[in-house]
Amino acid sequence: MGPTMRAVAYTGLDGPNDFQLIDEPVPTPAKGEVLIRVSRVGVNAADKILLDTGFNLFTGQPSAQISGSVIPGGEVVGVREDTGQRVVALCGAGGYAEWVAVSAARVYPVPDHVDDTDALTLMASGLTAWFLYEAAHVAPGESVVITGAAGALGSIAVQLGVCRGAGRVIALASTPKKRQFAQDLGAHAVTDSSAERLAGRLVEANDGAPVDVVFDMVGGKVFEEARAALAPFGRLVVFGTASGDSPTLETVSLAFGSHSVTGVWLPNFVDAGLAGPALDKLFELHGRGEVRTQEGPLFDLEHAREAQDALADRNTFGKVQIDVTTR
Ligand SMILES: NC(=O)c1ccc[n+]([C@@H]2O[C@H](COP(=O)([O-])OP(=O)(O)OC[C@H]3O[C@@H](n4cnc5c(N)ncnc54)[C@H](OP(=O)(O)O)[C@@H]3O)[C@@H](O)[C@H]2O)c1
Repeated sequence: MGPTMRAVAYTGLDGPNDFQLIDEPVPTPAKGEVLIRVSRVGVNAADKILLDTGFNLFTGQPSAQISGSVIPGGEVVGVREDTGQRVVALCGAGGYAEWVAVSAARVYPVPDHVDDTDALTLMASGLTAWFLYEAAHVAPGESVVITGAAGALGSIAVQLGVCRGAGRVIALASTPKKRQFAQDLGAHAVTDSSAERLAGRLVEANDGAPVDVVFDMVGGKVFEEARAALAPFGRLVVFGTASGDSPTLETVSLAFGSHSVTGVWLPNFVDAGLAGPALDKLFELHGRGEVRTQEGPLFDLEHAREAQDALADRNTFGKVQIDVTTR
């Protein structure tokens, strides 16, 4: 048997409670893949959704977001020296492991001025935030509502709004501390996401005018209320459904405001070859201090379940990550 590694496998139907730390063979990269010595793993709400729907039973392992180093040549036997280029990658699944084989087309080099933790946040959260703006064609001067604005992704979306010249960045968050955080990052207005009459509050936060763009990761009532606050030609981009409530839409209602509702799923943008230039731009903005990352809670592989629980508890700031280098 060749070299083995530690990995988290998913062995049942009870979500992260069924995570199990196992030893398994280091993967052998197929043609077109590179082998990565993983340093950090991104913990994502989508992992939980995939666990809940049983998807990860087929892949056996959760998570898709990693940073680490590439092993030159792809030959694994006996290789334990980490001498390659530092990278971030979006793998299909199986990221909770010491080594991962990933399609070379989904691997991006990381410049020296960005550490592994920040690089992972900029890839997983920053890139998605970037493509929200692209999908909505946000023009300078337009108003943008950002849900989950104090989260890893939302906090970058707030800063990108400022960088890209949004007329008004309106941040939604559930606690005063989170709202203060979003304001410190440059949001022009903050609103309690759990407040009654949210549509009216969004219009108030936009100086009495309906809003141009909404980025929604919550669904349910927040989606309905935010949509009711849209101006003519308004765009709503869906990128998650944290409330677990995915609303149905009466399509004819879109016609009355000339509204668009669209979606963003990061792997689609990665596979279309759009991620590399956007990530370089994010690394540049980060280097200039225009897009800051907030360090989130860091767990080790043994505590992958606690990492998922931390995300579900809704009390985290910054990207929840797993440090795969500790034993
Ligand atoms: N579409 C894509 O390609 C893509 C890529 C990456 C991430 N995502 C999604 O983007 C979202 C944010 O990711 P993240 O890494 O920024 O996570 P995060 O740091 O945990 O932030 C998520 C935020 O969601 C809000 N939230 C959590 N549970 C909620 C609930 N039940 N109802 C309403 N709001 C809730 C919380 O804000 P409040 O407490 O202030 O409401 C929290 O700050 C997730 O839903 C994730 O699945 C999508």
